[in-house]
Amino acid sequence: MEKNKKKSLIKNKSVICFKNCIKENQINEIFITMGVLFKFYFPELFQWLPKKITLKIWKLRKFQESIIKARKKSKKKFGKIYDTIQLSSSVKKMMTSKNIMNIVEKYTNIKKENFICFNSVIRFDPPFDERNSVDWHYDLYPNSEKIDPINGISVVVALHDIKIEHGSPIFLLNSNKTKIKMRLRTKYDNKSDNYKLEKEYFKKFKSKIFEINIGDVLIFPMKTIHKSGKNVSNNVRISGLFRYYPINKKGFTALKESYIPIE
Ligand SMILES: [Fe+2]
Repeated sequence: MEKNKKKSLIKNKSVICFKNCIKENQINEIFITMGVLFKFYFPELFQWLPKKITLKIWKLRKFQESIIKARKKSKKKFGKIYDTIQLSSSVKKMMTSKNIMNIVEKYTNIKKENFICFNSVIRFDPPFDERNSVDWHYDLYPNSEKIDPINGISVVVALHDIKIEHGSPIFLLNSNKTKIKMRLRTKYDNKSDNYKLEKEYFKKFKSKIFEINIGDVLIFPMKTIHKSGKNVSNNVRISGLFRYYPINKKGFTALKESYIPIE
C-alpha cells in the first residue's frame, strides 16, 4: 500500500517554491565563473573586478553597467559566454547538487538516481530587452516537438532577488494537466527560440507571478505554460534553469550531448 502511494504523480503537480534552499557558496561559485568568462572575453570592461567575487556583486552598479555594455559591444562574444557558462563545473555542480536533487526527489517521489539532467542554463535578461524574451511556452524535451515531456521537471534558481520589476516568472496554473499543442520556431543569430501556442486555452487557467528571493528554487512540470515578466528594472536578471527527466518514465528518449566549437 505504502509503495503505491509513492508512484509518480507529476501530472498532478503544480508550481512549488522551496524557500532559501541554495547555499550562498553555491551561488558565489557561479558568479566567480561568470567573472572569469567576462574578464576573458571583455577584459577592457571587467578589469576592475575584485579578486574575491561573491553573489553581492550583482548589486554593484558597475557590474550591471559592464554586463549591459558588453552585450551591446559584441552579441557574438556575449553568446560565447552564454554557451560556455552552461558547461562550467560550477553550473553543473549546482544542477546536480544534493539540495536540488533532494527537492526533485521529494517533488516527484522518484529516486534522484533515476534522473538525467540537461539544459543547464544561466539566463541573462537585460532591462527592456526584446531580442531574447520568450513568450508563453512550456519546456520541450531537447530539440524535439514530437516527444511529449509529460514526466519532465523544470527548476528555476534565483541567483539574486527576482521581484516583479526584474521580470519574475509567470505561470498558467494547472496548464500541465491539459494537452496543448505547441510549435517551436528556432531563431538564429543569438536570438532565443520562439513558440506558438494556441491562445484559446489561456483563459482557462489562472496566472500567477512568483516573486522569488535569492536561494529560492521553483520547481514545476515541464509542461506548465509559463513566461518571464518584463524586466523594467535597471539590473540584468540572472537566473539558473535546469531540467530533469526520469529514465524509467513515459516520454524519456535517449539523448546525447554534442559540442560544437564556436568560431
Ligand atoms: Fe521555459
